[in-house]
Amino acid sequence: MTVVREVPRRCVVWFGQPESHEQAELIRAGWNLRIADVAEPGGVGMRRGDTVVALADLRQGGADRLHALELMMADHAWLPWLTLLSAELPTQDPQVARVLLASVDFFTAPLDLQRLLDKLTLIGSNHLPVGHADIGGMTGRSAAIQAVVASIRKYAPVDLPVLITGETGAGKEVAARALHELSARRHRPFAAINCGALAPNLVQSELFGHERGSFTGANARRIGHFESAAGGTVFLDEVGDLPLDAQTNLLRFLQEGTLERVGSSQSISVDVRVLAATHVNLEQAVEQGRFREDLYYRLNVLRLHMPALREREDDVVLLAQHFLDSFREHHNSCARGFSHAARQALRSFAWPGNVRELLNRVQRAAVVAEDVMITAADLDLEDAAQLHAMRLSLGLSRISAERDAVVACLRESRFNISECARRLKVSRVTVYRLCKKHQLELEQLR
Ligand SMILES: Nc1ncnc2c1ncn2[C@@H]1O[C@H](COP(=O)(O)OP(=O)(O)O)[C@@H](O)[C@H]1O
Ligand SMILES: [Mg+2]
Repeated sequence: MTVVREVPRRCVVWFGQPESHEQAELIRAGWNLRIADVAEPGGVGMRRGDTVVALADLRQGGADRLHALELMMADHAWLPWLTLLSAELPTQDPQVARVLLASVDFFTAPLDLQRLLDKLTLIGSNHLPVGHADIGGMTGRSAAIQAVVASIRKYAPVDLPVLITGETGAGKEVAARALHELSARRHRPFAAINCGALAPNLVQSELFGHERGSFTGANARRIGHFESAAGGTVFLDEVGDLPLDAQTNLLRFLQEGTLERVGSSQSISVDVRVLAATHVNLEQAVEQGRFREDLYYRLNVLRLHMPALREREDDVVLLAQHFLDSFREHHNSCARGFSHAARQALRSFAWPGNVRELLNRVQRAAVVAEDVMITAADLDLEDAAQLHAMRLSLGLSRISAERDAVVACLRESRFNISECARRLKVSRVTVYRLCKKHQLELEQLR
């Protein structure tokens, strides 16, 4: 007997006119497409269990279409609506603002098709907004983050230490958690310890525990982080800050799998995987005698580098939208997305504080925004928006290209700022801003 089961369909009802490549892209991604006319509203035509998402296309047609759509949205308020805006439509206009507020999310022309497909998939699978490469809370689709994710998948099941490098805020701890979550240890503890934050005289006792009376103030036995995390993972953040005596004990633990509590000579076997992170150059610390070379080799068996955010321009807007969506789950904000100029500023900024800085700026912007679209000013990135215009006029597609171009131009102008400004067709102030942005020390370059 064959059971014919109707597969629930996924359908986008597009009020307006999609372009042919947009149609093709949606169909390729498994969505049925119905093109509907705002002027002639009819039934949407679906079966129970189907996923239907409505898309209000406001790229063409003026106030009439806006008005008809507003009525339609009110009629079909139960449908998830997405809105596609022409760049010219002012989002402050009360009618536009009402349409945007009635929609789950909106997009501006030119349409970011990948973001649209991501959003449709989310609505279709009824999930909370999550990112793309999403493993263990790691959002991103850039080539750089995909490579990181591939390494994490490879390293997670192996019980060896991993040394995670990268700038502050780049996501080292996120990566460590992902390694833990994807390992067989995921149901056991994950202990994150910031070695730089521990008082130097208490490091040993914090990590490995102590016996009662082992030092003044040790009134009771204390179990250290390694023992409490038995079966799980210990993440030693800023491992370069570990004092030398603690380094010796850590090395011993890595070699033998045993530790001794302070004030005891009894060895205890503990099963813990060690992950370590550093934002300083450990090789240099080894050369300077601040870090044991043998410990360095033990920790550095597998290495994972978290790229700086400016090296993943493709992730910035995606992450910003992700942080905004998460913020809105718990707080009120009229903001739904980012204006065109804000997106450009986001991509153009050098992000010295990496993902952490992006998170902070987006949260602040979500609070201060007075419009459905977060502006470059809300993000405090007006400079970046101006610099972006310069980048475009110079035909520099990436930030690294911008830095190279500025250095080259400074050299050609013999470090005469006025001459460099003339050549770049920007103001002197902008040249100084560019130097600051790319951490270029004129004195050192000269
Ligand atoms: N790929 C990512 N996706 C989502 N959030 C991220 C990502 N990378 C970093 N974050 C967030 O950015 C902040 C800084 O990350 P963290 O791992 O603490 O950086 P680091 O340890 O390198 O200083 C955290 O709030 C973290 O949740
Ligand atoms: Mg950290």
